[in-house]
Amino acid sequence: MKDANFSKKILCIGAGYVGGPTMAVIAAKCPQYKVTVVDINAARIDAWNSDKLPIYEPGLLDVVKQARGRNLFFSTDVDEAIREAEIIFVSVNTPTKSFGEGAGKAADLQYWELTARNIVRVSQSDKIIIEKSTLPVRTAEAMSRILNANEKGIRFEVLSNPEFLAEGTAVADLENPDRVLIGSQLTAEGIKARDAVVEIYANWIPKERILTSNVWSSELSKLVANAFLAQRISSINSISALCEKTEANVSEVSRAIGMDSRIGNKFLSSSVGFGGSCFQKDILNLVYICQSWGLTEVADYWEQVISMNEYQKRRFVQNMVKVMFNTVAGKRIALFGFAFKADTGDTRESPAISVAKQLLEEHSKVVITDPQALDNAKIDLADYADKLEFIPDPYEAAKGAHAIAVMTEWKEYKTLDYKRIFSDMERPSFIFDGRNVLDHKALFDLGFNVFPLGQPFHKHF
Ligand code: NAD
Ligand code: UGA
Repeated sequence: MKDANFSKKILCIGAGYVGGPTMAVIAAKCPQYKVTVVDINAARIDAWNSDKLPIYEPGLLDVVKQARGRNLFFSTDVDEAIREAEIIFVSVNTPTKSFGEGAGKAADLQYWELTARNIVRVSQSDKIIIEKSTLPVRTAEAMSRILNANEKGIRFEVLSNPEFLAEGTAVADLENPDRVLIGSQLTAEGIKARDAVVEIYANWIPKERILTSNVWSSELSKLVANAFLAQRISSINSISALCEKTEANVSEVSRAIGMDSRIGNKFLSSSVGFGGSCFQKDILNLVYICQSWGLTEVADYWEQVISMNEYQKRRFVQNMVKVMFNTVAGKRIALFGFAFKADTGDTRESPAISVAKQLLEEHSKVVITDPQALDNAKIDLADYADKLEFIPDPYEAAKGAHAIAVMTEWKEYKTLDYKRIFSDMERPSFIFDGRNVLDHKALFDLGFNVFPLGQPFHKHF
């Protein structure tokens, strides 16, 4: 189709885990729009233009192929793309600040601000700018000031449209979201811009699931959603520790409380700890914002969610050391999984990073296997490269090991031939199930000593 025939020209700046999948789904659902995704990282853009996408996400390649070259374009020509777009989503990274005021907590907004300044510099017409990145509440105010301080007479309307997709299920989450949230100023211009964005999503999402609110509620809702989700995991993980002391079983407790419709049964799986690029970062950001408003008790309350997560990761390794006769030095330990959850190759803040480092401090010989995340694992642990092995085949990884520790709930780990694995391991052989996904009784019957999380242990000694 010729450019002039597209009914809207949409741009996304930032071709990462959010920008790429989100725009691919918009383009696939709306062939009448021209959707362009730009990034300063040329290797990433090349990968989006190939059949080996830069991220592993089930079903994504099919969606990309449906629209790529038709109305979906990936490019590094940021300036040209800005000039022609009417609606610009900004989905650049907003990591935790590592320097200066707020280091270790506040969001680092430098990439966002650079993008905003670039938009002002090259724009020749009015545009709607959408915060897709997760940002501190009231960022839109600062962005609006920067954008609208231009002397070209160009007007930018800043909206918030946070993304709620989870990795591993991104395509399904985007195609069928629980809700889409669009925050705007409640002025005539703000509402007009909001309606233009509602119109995009209404192409495939029922209107009652498209929520609108003021900008600040929208920005804050994103941080709060992640804080509540992470809080549930820390809550159940805290109970896993108590279960281990009392012979209660955390899975039974989860089931019992989850059937209370007021509590609900999702996000109650005890684990070695939550990971991913956002939960920790967004809670730290929330904590920082509360502290800056003098809300010390509120900040402390949310900070505890992170402390509990750190405790769970430490507790997991301490338990391994204790159970394996108070030393793991020189012992080969195979980590099954390195991704922060199944169905992704992403390892950002994966609990496996912390577990691997703690085991290396204990002088273990650590072997890592994962179906999708070994390349990222090698980068995460580059400083320890000479002390580690990365082996794609789990059978090879477990050969000669004293213990297996399940870090990621990959479904292939449930159906491995554990009899074969057991026969190749050192005795006594241990399995620490950091995701409670294996059949513990069956493994015990094969001869393993099995240590689930928050459940009674199965040991032969
Ligand atoms: P990412 O690091 O995968 O992608 C960000 C991309 O932005 C990178 O490719 C980077 O090169 C690019 N970029 C940075 N500065 C740029 C600039 N000036 N011009 C062009 N490109 C630039 O990050 P992500 O995981 O996609 O997250 C993006 C935002 O979305 C974050 O704020 C995050 O909190 C939020 N978010 C992430 C997820 C998730 O599942 N990963 C889910 C919801 C929200
Ligand atoms: C999470 C949110 O679920 C998304 O809504 C949000 O958009 C996204 O963060 C974001 O802002 O980045 P994601 O981190 O991709 O998505 O994955 P989750 O499914 O939320 O899992 C996060 C971590 O919690 C994983 O390590 C997972 O294994 C762990 N988890 C999850 C548990 O330990 N127990 C559970 O019951 C559920």
